[in-house]
Amino acid sequence: MKKPYVILNSAMSLDGKIATRGGDSAFSDEEDWKRVHKLRSQVDAIMVGINTILLDDSKLTSKEGRSPIRVVVDSKARTPPNARVITVRPEIETIIAVTGRAPPENIANLQKKGVKIMICGDGEKVDLEILMEKLYERGIRNLLLEGGGNLNWGMLSKGLVDEIRIAIAPVIVGGKKATTLVEGEGYTKVSEGVKLEQVNSEQVGKCIVLTYKVLNTRREE
Ligand SMILES: NC(=O)c1ccc[n+]([C@@H]2O[C@H](COP(=O)([O-])OP(=O)(O)OC[C@H]3O[C@@H](n4cnc5c(N)ncnc54)[C@H](OP(=O)(O)O)[C@@H]3O)[C@@H](O)[C@H]2O)c1
Repeated sequence: MKKPYVILNSAMSLDGKIATRGGDSAFSDEEDWKRVHKLRSQVDAIMVGINTILLDDSKLTSKEGRSPIRVVVDSKARTPPNARVITVRPEIETIIAVTGRAPPENIANLQKKGVKIMICGDGEKVDLEILMEKLYERGIRNLLLEGGGNLNWGMLSKGLVDEIRIAIAPVIVGGKKATTLVEGEGYTKVSEGVKLEQVNSEQVGKCIVLTYKVLNTRREE
């Protein structure tokens, strides 16, 4: 399919959590943040799920060069109009991907703030394949997926991720309710899993950054 080249980037503990049970996600040190901000400046768009916006109030800007378009995957248009992804650097475009079932008043309140709404299907959740096609049509050729765990599953399980970069911090936080790198239903067998090929590993500050190519992507060259 015609879709942007998608890089999933995340920072996690050695035990695979991207946030603690209390919602703390500060796994990156200064040097790793620098790497992430540089990566943000090299892509056309950054994308996160609505829970990441509600929990972290992320700005999704770059301190290391130009800031790309911001995309929030938010079926019911629950993004607060005063969220920093909308109010900080309002000259940078923010796209909210919703479904046809999103309350029209929520959509209207977001549009008043200058946000662009993309309707992607009429299902319970945003149809991520439709979203990828629409973003490609909008001229987005590479996209940084910054979580959280549920959106990571949504994208990986549909074969929409092309590359993965993970910073592993030297810490273990435990907690069965802590969010892991990939949530969702999961597979029953290892053989069903998303197949990867490691292409790099490097020390960045206190983190080890691993880079993988995804072997079963659906992207057409
Ligand atoms: N360490 C890191 O690098 C890092 C990075 C990012 C986030 N985080 C952490 O991750 C946590 C949030 O992760 P999360 O897993 O709870 O939430 P999330 O992935 O940020 O958002 C998930 C939500 O996105 C919406 N969504 C719409 N369509 C979807 C689809 N097709 N597939 C999947 N989701 C879809 C759903 O809500 P609706 O049904 O309402 O649309 C879903 O509940 C936060 O604690 C944050 O701090 C850590």
